[in-house]
Amino acid sequence: MEKKKPTTMIVGTGSAAPDKVVTNFDLEKIVDTSDQWIRERTGIERRHILEEGKTNSDLAAMAAMRAIEDAGLTPRDIDCIIQATITPDSLFPATACRVQALINADRAAAFDISAACSGFIYGLVLADSLITTGKYKRVLVIGSEILSRFMDWEDRATCVLFGDGAGAVVLASSDGERGILSDYLRSDGRLADLLGIAGGGSAMPTSHTTVDEKRHFIHMKGREVFKHAVRTMVDAAKHGLKAAGYKDEDLDLLITHQANIRIIEAIGERLKLPKENIFVNLQEYGNTSAASIPLAMDQARKEGKLKPGDLCLLVAFGGGFTWASCLVRF
Ligand code: ACO
Repeated sequence: MEKKKPTTMIVGTGSAAPDKVVTNFDLEKIVDTSDQWIRERTGIERRHILEEGKTNSDLAAMAAMRAIEDAGLTPRDIDCIIQATITPDSLFPATACRVQALINADRAAAFDISAACSGFIYGLVLADSLITTGKYKRVLVIGSEILSRFMDWEDRATCVLFGDGAGAVVLASSDGERGILSDYLRSDGRLADLLGIAGGGSAMPTSHTTVDEKRHFIHMKGREVFKHAVRTMVDAAKHGLKAAGYKDEDLDLLITHQANIRIIEAIGERLKLPKENIFVNLQEYGNTSAASIPLAMDQARKEGKLKPGDLCLLVAFGGGFTWASCLVRF
């Protein structure tokens, strides 16, 4: 298969995490859990939690400014802002519009997308299409989540898993050597009820009953989600590589959605990748949904684990269910 030339590339990355850290030992004091259980079952050791009074858009704007500065641009250079999030500031207006105002990107169109933990890759693919078709020159894609505000802190099965964070990238036209080489997006809405927040939407408007029944918190059928996560992310990884004419062993770095170390290791085994070619930072942040991949990508670049010219595969899975991959020559 002939290898595709990229037309869109990532020209800047940035991320932001709240200062407040909650360790597994802190959680031992509020629910019936242990540091050992959380580390062995998930790999998570700590998570960052946003302080009261601060919002998703505050954190997203911080990550966005860092990505824009990293690209050597100013907010007025941005044509479009796409924010992937399932924890927006409010149902509407879009959190991306709040970010636009905070960073003064007054020339940009701005909107949110919702594809849970796959949302950032969905946004990246959308941005790639907008640039490839000539519609826009520079698109800011943000993944930002404040999951701590939608967690039942009395439910040990979910409150130990998630954290808050934000990551952003700027996409622009490619020099023809580096950039996005392939993408793969899928979903299966028949499995929508296995993971989500049931209350607060138009199907189940907020009422005393929905609050009493805790329908405004994240619910998840963990074991079933786990099974699908491994199968679908391996599927997305294989398709993404094949579509661009590459093999598993060509990969310099795999960045998967950071939900559970056992899921990441299972994917690595199936792709026969050595551990050093798989980036993991969930021990520090937990599952930050749409923020997890851009947060990891920015950290990998800063640590020198993702260098110009590297072949990097991004792979995600989330509520919906949705799953996705994007192959990038950095
Ligand atoms: N501490 C101690 N014990 C616990 C805890 C806890 N925090 N949570 C659950 N347990 C107990 C359960 O009650 C159960 O006890 P029982 O056997 O007496 O009934 C036992 O531990 C095992 O529970 P399981 O749920 O079967 O544990 P499992 O090994 O499946 O791990 C986990 C749970 C970590 C949630 C795992 O299933 C998982 O990672 N699932 C996938 C999550 C994911 O990938 N999400 C991605 C998308 S997220 C998004 O889109 C927003």
